[in-house]
Amino acid sequence: MCGIVGYVGGRQAVDVVVEGLGRLEYRGYDSSGIALVGPGGELEVQKRAGKLANLRSVLAEGPASFATTGIGHTRWATHGAPTDRNAHPHTDCDERIAVIHNGIIENFAELRAELETDGHKLVSETDTEVVAHLLEGFAELGLAEAMRRTCKRLKGAFTLLAVSVDEPGVVVGARRNSPLVVGRGDGENFLGSDVAAFIAYTREAIELGQDQVVRLRASEITITDFDGVPSPTRNYHVNWDASAAEKGGYDHFMLKEIAEQPRAVADTLLGRVGADGLLTLDEMRLSDQELRDINKIIVVACGTSYHAGLIAKYAIEHWAGIPCEVELASEFRYRDPILTRDTLVVVISQSGETMDTLMAVRHAREQRSRVLAICNVNGSTIPRESDAVLYTHAGPEVAVASTKAFLTQLVACYLVALYFAQVRGTKFGDEISQIIAELAETPSRIEEVLETMEPVRELARSLADERCVLFLGRHVGFPVALEGALKLKELAYMHAEGFAAGELKHGPIALIDEGLPVVVVVPSPLGQRVTHEKIVSNIQEIRARGAKTIVIAEEGDSTVEPYADALIRVPAVPTLLQPLVATVPLQVFACELATAKGHDVDQPRNLAKSVTVE
Ligand code: F6R
Repeated sequence: MCGIVGYVGGRQAVDVVVEGLGRLEYRGYDSSGIALVGPGGELEVQKRAGKLANLRSVLAEGPASFATTGIGHTRWATHGAPTDRNAHPHTDCDERIAVIHNGIIENFAELRAELETDGHKLVSETDTEVVAHLLEGFAELGLAEAMRRTCKRLKGAFTLLAVSVDEPGVVVGARRNSPLVVGRGDGENFLGSDVAAFIAYTREAIELGQDQVVRLRASEITITDFDGVPSPTRNYHVNWDASAAEKGGYDHFMLKEIAEQPRAVADTLLGRVGADGLLTLDEMRLSDQELRDINKIIVVACGTSYHAGLIAKYAIEHWAGIPCEVELASEFRYRDPILTRDTLVVVISQSGETMDTLMAVRHAREQRSRVLAICNVNGSTIPRESDAVLYTHAGPEVAVASTKAFLTQLVACYLVALYFAQVRGTKFGDEISQIIAELAETPSRIEEVLETMEPVRELARSLADERCVLFLGRHVGFPVALEGALKLKELAYMHAEGFAAGELKHGPIALIDEGLPVVVVVPSPLGQRVTHEKIVSNIQEIRARGAKTIVIAEEGDSTVEPYADALIRVPAVPTLLQPLVATVPLQVFACELATAKGHDVDQPRNLAKSVTVE
C-alpha cells in the first residue's frame, strides 16, 4: 500500500530516495517523508502531508548535509489521519532512530500502552511509531539485532526500514506479509516495496522472504531470519527498464497503459504453444496427473481481478467441463469453503501483494488444496506462496485503476481453461489450436477498438455532469458491465452499478428514469443468439422508460441500431473472448469522463495501487 525506498552508497541519498518515491507514489499518496543519515551520524527527517510535491518543495531548500544513507516513504493512511505528524518516518524519544512502515501492526495499542508506562513519549496516532520506540529499547544490540527482536514483538503485517545515527551507512529492513525487495548495485544497494523504486540504478534484485531481516551497507547485504540465522536468498534479473515505468508521452499512465493493451495481450500469449502445436504452461509447476485429479476450481480475487475471475468461470466450465466457483478473497477466507486436495484454487492478483488474496492462498493451502496464482509481478508474495504460477506479461502497471493487467489476466484465465481442456481431453487439439489462433488475433482487434475511440471520448465528456450511470450485460458481458461500473466509480467518483441484464425486472429497472445513461454490453447475435435477443428486449424496455441507451455491440449487428442513443462498435470475436474487446471502450469512457471532471486519473482519491492491508 505504502511505498518504501532505502539507499546506501556513494550518491546523495535524498536524490535517489525521492526519485524512487516518485515511482512508487502510485502505491499511496496521502503524505510522504524521508530520513537521511549524514556521515557524522546526523539525522535529518522531513515529512509532509499531501502528495510528494509537498515534500519536494521542502527539500528544494536543500538537505542539511551530504548524506549517502536514506529511507523514504509515501503513505496510504491506515491508523491516524494523513497529517504531517502522522507521516513517516517516525523517531524514538531521542530522535536517534527513524523508521518507516507499510502494513498494519495489529497489537500496536498494547505495545503503545506498555511503552508509555515505561516512560516513552509517543507523538503520533500511528501504529508505526511503537516500532521506533521498541528499536530504541534494543539499540545497544545494533540496529539489525534490534530489528529482529522488535519484529518478534509485532503482530500483523509489516515492511519496516530503519536507520540510526549510531550506524551511518546502514539501512535495516524487515518484512512479514508485506513486500520488500533488495536492489544490488555496484558499491551501492537499495531497498524498495517493488523494483520500480530502484530500477533507474539497477536491474539486479533479491527476493526477501517471509520473516526476514536485511542489513544493507554500500557493499554488503546480510539477510537473516528473525532469529539471526542466515537465510537462503534468490537473486533475479528484472526484465523491464525505467522507461517502461515512465509515461512515454501520454498525459497519464492510465492512457499509456490502455494503449499498451495489444502488446500486453500479445506478450502474455507469447511462447505458450510448443513445437508439437500443444499448449505448454511450463511455469505452472502442476503435473498433468495433478490437473486430471482436480474436480473443482475456485477462483479467488479482489476488485478488477475478481471480474477477470468471473469471466474465467465461463471459459473453464465451457472448455474444460470442470465445476468452477468464483469468490471475493475477503469473503472466501471468512467462511468455511469446502476445499479438498482435489480442489484447485486459482488466485488472480496483478500486484501479487493484495492481503485478502494472500490470506486466501494461505487458507486454501492449510486445507491442502493446490493453489495456482495468476500474477503480473515476478517474485511477489502471492506467486511465491502458491503451488503454481502463471505470469501475465503486462509490464508495470502504475495507474491505480487496472486496465492492461485485466486484459492479460483474461488471457491467462483462457490459457488455464484451455490447458485443462487439453490435459483432460474435453476439447480436441485442433479445436484448442483454433481458439489459440483466435486469441492470437485479439491484439489487432484491440488495436482496432483503440483507433475508434474518439466518439467514446466525446460521449464521456458530454456526460460529465451526470450523477449516475448503469451498466448491463449478460453472459461474459455481465462481468464486463461490473468492470465498466467499477472503473467509473473509482475514476469519476460517480454512482455506477453493473447488473446482469436478466435481473433488470427483479429490481434495477426501478432505477430507470428520464435521461439516465445506461451502458449495455450486447452479446454476439451469432454466438449468443438467445441472450442477444433477450438483451435487445431489455434495451427496448429501458428506453421506453426514458433511459439514454449507450450500446456496445459487435460490428454488423444491425438489430440494436433503432434502440441505441449512442452505439459503440467492437470487432466480432468468439463469444468467450468478447471481454477482451468490449472492456476497452469502458476504460476509455471512464478515463475521459474523469478527466473532464478534472480528476487525477492515475491516483484517484482514497485508493492505493496495491492493498496490502485488510
Ligand atoms: C481497480 C483495481 C482494483 C484491483 C484490486 C486487486 O481498477 O485495480 O480493484 O484489481 O485491488 O488488486 P490485485 O490484482 O493487485 O490483487
